[in-house]
Amino acid sequence: MTVYAITGATGQLGRLVVSSLLAKRVDPAQIVAIARDPNKAADLLPKDVAVRHGDYDRPETLGPALAGVDKLLLISASEAGKRLPQHRAVIDAAKSARVKLLAYTSILRADTSPIGLAEEHRKTEVLLKASDVPYVLLRNGWYTENYTASIPAAIEHGARFGSSGTGLISAAARADFADAAAVVLVSNEDQRGRVYELSGDESFTLAGFAAELSRQVGKPIAYRDLPEAAYKELLVGAGLPAPFAALLAQSDAAAAEGALFDEGHQLAELIGRPTAQLADVIASALRQRT
Ligand SMILES: NC(=O)c1ccc[n+]([C@@H]2O[C@H](COP(=O)([O-])OP(=O)(O)OC[C@H]3O[C@@H](n4cnc5c(N)ncnc54)[C@H](OP(=O)(O)O)[C@@H]3O)[C@@H](O)[C@H]2O)c1
Repeated sequence: MTVYAITGATGQLGRLVVSSLLAKRVDPAQIVAIARDPNKAADLLPKDVAVRHGDYDRPETLGPALAGVDKLLLISASEAGKRLPQHRAVIDAAKSARVKLLAYTSILRADTSPIGLAEEHRKTEVLLKASDVPYVLLRNGWYTENYTASIPAAIEHGARFGSSGTGLISAAARADFADAAAVVLVSNEDQRGRVYELSGDESFTLAGFAAELSRQVGKPIAYRDLPEAAYKELLVGAGLPAPFAALLAQSDAAAAEGALFDEGHQLAELIGRPTAQLADVIASALRQRT
């Protein structure tokens, strides 16, 4: 019996991966949900899935969390700047536990990406290559939800601000990335050493995003392009910590140059269906607001 474990299982992607594994008829007894706060898991995960404590910052928790695990999804940690030692701790624990496959959620074209946030992913990939742990890279593009999160502000201001100019963004819904991770975990094919560049079938500009949102809410919403520094200040004004605002503004500016564009369609191929369309993801986000 193959045992699958997911780190960050209480997060948004992790929960969707657990659901996707169950939808693929993986027995709940084969799933280990690893959470830094197991109490949080009680409300968020199905009761018949085992929850184990695993905190990237407390390596002593990771050995017991990975005991008996065959295939592990390492969902990249969420605090930029702290992630390399956190990922190293999981890779070391996976090696000690003799995990047979570690799937890592990286970033689109991690090896060449000009996006600042890519650096820790690139370094994690180097760690993986140097480890003896068999691994597969899930290089995820941007979540469409990164953009739908700003819908309330865009409606309020009648504008969506950004720095991505006319850059095309091949974002995809979290649920599609989660499904791809589940497909790779349950696959009977040898996944070791594979690198998947994952992105949505449909590419959009932020002006296109604003136009679709405007159409659905029946209110004018324009896209306003700002220089990177001005967009960073706007994000700081909206409450983001300055270093994170700088990273997001830099990502947006890089998207203007094509850093988030991809037309390889590997995500659709993996999940065996077209990726969710922008209009549907926006409609779903609007439904959740009401
Ligand atoms: N591709 C994209 O557009 C995009 C966008 C944002 C983030 N990301 C990356 O993708 C990852 C998953 O995305 P998401 O939307 O699921 O993010 P999320 O909802 O913030 O989930 C992150 C998960 O990581 C867990 N975590 C954080 N620090 C940890 C630690 N020290 N030890 C153990 N677990 C820890 C969190 O635990 P708690 O539940 O206890 O908080 C949470 O379960 C993020 O962490 C980030 O690396 C990608």
